[in-house]
Amino acid sequence: MRVLVTGGSGFIGSNFIRYVLTEHPDDRIVNLDKLTYAGNPANLADFEHDARYAFVHGDIADAELVGDVARGVDAIVNFAAPSHVDRSILDADEFLRTNVLGVRVLLDAVRTLGVPRLLHVSTDEVYGSIATGAATEASPLRPSNPYSAAKAGGDLLALAYWNTHGVPVVVTRSSNNFGPYQYPEKLIPLFITNALESQPLPVYGDGLQVRDWIYVLDNCAAIDLVLRAGRDGEVYNIAGGHEVANATVTREILRWLGKPESLIQMVADRPGHDRRYALDATKLARLGWAPRYPFASALESTVRWYREHDAWWRPLKSGDFRAYYARQYGRR
Ligand code: NAD
Ligand code: DAU
Repeated sequence: MRVLVTGGSGFIGSNFIRYVLTEHPDDRIVNLDKLTYAGNPANLADFEHDARYAFVHGDIADAELVGDVARGVDAIVNFAAPSHVDRSILDADEFLRTNVLGVRVLLDAVRTLGVPRLLHVSTDEVYGSIATGAATEASPLRPSNPYSAAKAGGDLLALAYWNTHGVPVVVTRSSNNFGPYQYPEKLIPLFITNALESQPLPVYGDGLQVRDWIYVLDNCAAIDLVLRAGRDGEVYNIAGGHEVANATVTREILRWLGKPESLIQMVADRPGHDRRYALDATKLARLGWAPRYPFASALESTVRWYREHDAWWRPLKSGDFRAYYARQYGRR
């Protein structure tokens, strides 16, 4: 299979490319990535000289470029997106541009070139906060921050292109990923790297918000399965099945690192902070998928990965990065 992966230099995309080239040694991948602050060529340094892998620097909103790189591929898998909720609260512009208009460019290319499949990677955040139970693929979309609203826009546009033009799309909506190569602005890598440096761990609000965590390789396996076996026009939820409060994750990270709980710093809450996400992934289970990585051991190995790869994350934790958080979420 020849696959165009967009946004493949980020966290999940780079794990996905490594997963596919390992599980399907005959596949070929072209990675189109804009290399924003979150895109990092170092994430795929091991494939630099692999004939099965090629990198193209560019933007999914560039219709001419997308037309060139998408020609003749068997499928496109779209990871490209600004992905951090806090940044979307500061400025939504890039979120709308890539997550809605960029997706439109991909859809038009698939339509014009007759690409057999587009897998669009969406998120559980499109369902919004859920007090009890779990969202199924038929649940209403109630995104409640600029990031998730933009993701819902791209997600719905993809399904509208299927309905209107018969463009062959499948959409995945997964819960919170964690694992190697995640930019140290998201909860788990931020807290691991802060703890390693004996810096405070800024827990928003009361810390009792609940997320469902999935190890990134479980998500990659699910996306790969949907890519090859999913039905056109369908949405598939991908759930880790491990719901836990932020305060609990925080304490577990400190415990794995042998660091004191005095590093925990309760700070002002994220505006519009969603209380809980939860997904029903029965539909995906029917395709034959189940998560393989238990949360506790996957978190332990993730902590170990960051401990052993400080050359990867230290350059990312620049002065700017610290200043950004200090400005937004200073001490209460
Ligand atoms: P990330 O921020 O680590 O990586 C995003 C990648 O997209 C980067 O390499 C960046 O350079 C690239 N990119 C951004 N804008 C681009 C553009 N206009 N053109 C080309 N490339 C562009 O994100 P991630 O955590 O790996 O998330 C990947 C996808 O999965 C996103 O669509 C996100 O919404 C979705 N998702 C993430 C999670 C999670 O927990 N991280 C959960 C569910 C869904
Ligand atoms: O649910 C899927 C989504 O998960 C993805 O679509 C997003 O791309 C991804 O960023 C993630 O969004 P969250 O907002 O859930 O992830 P984040 O790591 O930013 O925050 C996780 C929880 O931890 C959330 O309740 C906010 C809280 N938090 C986060 C940070 C960065 C803190 O308490 N302190 C922090 O410093």
